[in-house]
Amino acid sequence: MTATRHPPPHELRDHAEAEHADEPALPRERGGVRFAAVLAARLSRRDLLLGAVTAGLAGCGAATHRPPRPRAATSRPATVVGEPVGSAGSPSTLGFQEVAGGADPKLHVASGHQAQVLLGWGDPIFANSPVFQADELTARAQSRQFGANCDFIGFHPLPFASTAQLTTDAARRAASRRGLLSVNHEHTSTRFMWDGLAQGDISKLMTRARVEVELASVGHSIVEVKRGRDGWQPVRNSRYNRRLTALDTRFVATGPAAGHPRLRTKADPTGRDIIGTLHNCSGGVTPWGTTLSGEENFYLHFLGDPDATGEGRNYRRYGFGGRCSYPWWGMRVPRFNLAHEPHEPNRFGWIVEVDPYDPAAPPKKRTALGRFCHEAATTVVNKDGRVVLYMGDDRGDEYLYRFVTAGRFESAKPRAQRDLLDTGTLSVARFDADGSLRWLPLVFGQGPLTPNAGFRGQADVLIETRRAADLLGATPMDRPEDVEPNPVTGVVFAMLTNHTGRKTKGIANPRGPNPYGHVVAMVPPGGRGALADHAAEVFTWSVPMLGGDPRNPSHGAKMHPATSDDGWFVSPDNCTFDRDGRLWMTTDQGSKWVLTGRADGVFACDTEGPGAWLPRRFMRAPIGAEFAGPCFTPDNTSFFVSVQHPGVDAVGSTFARPATRWPDFDGHSPPRAAVVAVQRTDGGAIGGR
Ligand code: FEO
Ligand code: CA
Ligand code: CA
Repeated sequence: MTATRHPPPHELRDHAEAEHADEPALPRERGGVRFAAVLAARLSRRDLLLGAVTAGLAGCGAATHRPPRPRAATSRPATVVGEPVGSAGSPSTLGFQEVAGGADPKLHVASGHQAQVLLGWGDPIFANSPVFQADELTARAQSRQFGANCDFIGFHPLPFASTAQLTTDAARRAASRRGLLSVNHEHTSTRFMWDGLAQGDISKLMTRARVEVELASVGHSIVEVKRGRDGWQPVRNSRYNRRLTALDTRFVATGPAAGHPRLRTKADPTGRDIIGTLHNCSGGVTPWGTTLSGEENFYLHFLGDPDATGEGRNYRRYGFGGRCSYPWWGMRVPRFNLAHEPHEPNRFGWIVEVDPYDPAAPPKKRTALGRFCHEAATTVVNKDGRVVLYMGDDRGDEYLYRFVTAGRFESAKPRAQRDLLDTGTLSVARFDADGSLRWLPLVFGQGPLTPNAGFRGQADVLIETRRAADLLGATPMDRPEDVEPNPVTGVVFAMLTNHTGRKTKGIANPRGPNPYGHVVAMVPPGGRGALADHAAEVFTWSVPMLGGDPRNPSHGAKMHPATSDDGWFVSPDNCTFDRDGRLWMTTDQGSKWVLTGRADGVFACDTEGPGAWLPRRFMRAPIGAEFAGPCFTPDNTSFFVSVQHPGVDAVGSTFARPATRWPDFDGHSPPRAAVVAVQRTDGGAIGGR
């Protein structure tokens, strides 16, 4: 049976839309609790908004299309410079005036700040990189340029300094002037790479050469950046600069599944030598100075019949057999075709560890951390020295995971312990109605994870992490994206983006359907901050915020009563914390932004005190884009954020008439995803006090 569905030409879509389509439940084996269905009466409102927004977009990007011309990719000037910061009268500690909610082709940042386009798709990142030519994309050029659709951003100070070493303001300032940006490139926006795709026969138009361009434009970039009088600039002759791609970069598999027969292919009989990384979305940084990069929706890139591979149950649990967003990859490159390499998908869906300080070090796929559609991999050193990772699996009804290393981190030798992530315990979260959260270990031989269930060792448990978690009765969540511990309080927050496919209310997921997303707080025992025991078996949980418009009772939103009409948010996605422990969230509504009529944003809020759960809108994305990868320098005076897939999730946006040509707006260039650097015009800490 061949069930993989290819998008016909008129339906050309890429990841940004596919990820947010209403997703059917995947086949699973479970004992999970289900509740009575609750139907949402929202269709009439959605239809109303869709019409309104479509009408409002009629003039966007209306420049007549001409073929793109060669263009020097220099850093653009500041996007917005505004008035002095301030938030008089608000219980929030955040000292900025909010950006208005709305939608237009431009990027907006709170007054008193400047947003600078630092690195965009196609920008040269080496001294000898070719200049970006939108009408003549080549794999060779893409391999030497900043990649497509930037996502997670890690800032690594130069020279290396661990968080534990940054104990004074002077040290934090010194560590915030120069560093390495370690940036994921999740996927391509194929529609904006070549003209004529929507009207033509994609199976012919997407040649091997074009597929190789896509393979070279995804993956990861490491780029040295430094701050000067004119803001941040890339250092193109830095010895650290590096591209990792899906085309030809070699990755080493490590941990319990490395070398397993299910990871072996014709090209790699060792099962350890993997070409490429796929769909690198969110991630994290480690105390020893590496970046962790999550391979998310890898299944979208493979073509073929999962049931003809001997891995049908495994692959179907990861979404194979449904939509294939990039079928031309499997048509042109045999390893992305299941008929040729039936084990190739088992080599993706891992957490990749990259050492930005060592350009010669091979990146590693850490199989001990499980295989799923990985999002965050945020770390905290537990009070006993073990390192704890929190991870999300971004699909409706998937789970939250935790990994606790067996070994202990030695802060006196932070760069010495490179392989802590190969040994430890992976667990999955079960939320209970009494307010407790239990971490269930995914260990071969324990509970149902035995040969009777088809597991012959820990490698099988890791390769089929989702199925193992099903059998343990983990709690299905509303698309877990970022999961991150607050460095001040120790509380761990999960961003649940949304889940329109949810038919019933659930524990810790109180709306069904849930088009607006929510935030879950997970509280480890032991005390505040460094006293928290992140390795404990049992936490407690609560839901401090539910997305939506608080003024519209049908949304069922929950946030501070002083939330302004600009400050409410939907679809929380990525997050980070500032030095004061305040939560900074980016949102990702996908094409469902028509529900709100507002572009995605960056929002910040206190998590304690009178201003707790009072979100304030700090930035607004160009139409069709999501923000991703929010990241502060150690002194909090600079904030980096990715603007991903501008123009894609906008109504009627095409190559010829994109909804935005951000950031160039030259009438020729396609929209280009980019990392933006934000600073206060007075040089102070972002968010103020
Ligand atoms: Fe690629 Fe879950 O966002
Ligand atoms: Ca993401
Ligand atoms: Ca997302």
